[in-house]
Amino acid sequence: MNKNKKLLVLHGPNLNLLGKREPQIYGKLTLEELNNLIYREAERLGVSVDCHQSNHEGSLIDLIHGAESKYDGIVFNPGAFTHYSIALRDAVAGVTVPTIEVHLSNISSREDFRHRSVIAPVAWGQISGLGPQGYLLAMRALVDRGKEVFSPEGSEETAGKQLISKTRAVRGAIDVSSNGENEILEATEELLQEMVTRNSINKSDIAAVIFSVTSDLNAVFPAKAARRMGWRDVPLFDVVEIDVPGALPRCIRVLMLINTNKGIHEIKHVYLKGAAVLRKDLRQ
Ligand code: DQA
Repeated sequence: MNKNKKLLVLHGPNLNLLGKREPQIYGKLTLEELNNLIYREAERLGVSVDCHQSNHEGSLIDLIHGAESKYDGIVFNPGAFTHYSIALRDAVAGVTVPTIEVHLSNISSREDFRHRSVIAPVAWGQISGLGPQGYLLAMRALVDRGKEVFSPEGSEETAGKQLISKTRAVRGAIDVSSNGENEILEATEELLQEMVTRNSINKSDIAAVIFSVTSDLNAVFPAKAARRMGWRDVPLFDVVEIDVPGALPRCIRVLMLINTNKGIHEIKHVYLKGAAVLRKDLRQ
């Protein structure tokens, strides 16, 4: 899946001197050794990477322009240009390729003139002070961009999935034989559980649930059932329907809004018990 991703690593001015230049600040690794770490990481991530170094602002600008529609991300250490090159800032802002600014040293803990980056505001992010590791972390972030890497529940099931972007609605209905609290709670639970199971819904993907009950039922019970199921963070809304002559009596209806990457025709609406008559088209 990462196979087709291509990353560009750009090293700015003076980084060709790595290993010899102020090793107490930039470390002992040479540029070649740093690039070898980068190639190895690319192999591990299953992506391809090109590395370039230039001491010239114009060459770096050309490389950034050339990255458009050729690369999926840029890891950029602009060296001293970081602090004043509006031309490089405009180049980064002028392409749609996401760029992560990387610095070997912690620019915030050094001289005042290094505290400011004119590139950072137009970059996707900035990593500073982690040495060579910063380049590798930036590569990983670019490869993972657009994926839901950290799910709110921390479940492995959702980790690595594409970001879910659509909201869809699942309909459901069930009828009860009386206005008793227990019966309504149990029927609502049964209905919600069926809707969740048939559509493989994770609780964290439920955006909201709207309940409506016919006026012969107590409207507070369905939401109570949802709370009893542990749906404490799901926004719930109850309404009472107006009387419609000839309508199915003692009916609980549900509209569940979910975030999903399913197509509209893949959604399974659920009509249980007597409410099945409302949607004869649905095979249970
Ligand atoms: C640097 C930090 C810059 O301030 C400096 O001019 C460099 C290297 C870094 O990687 O720490 O050349 O970008």
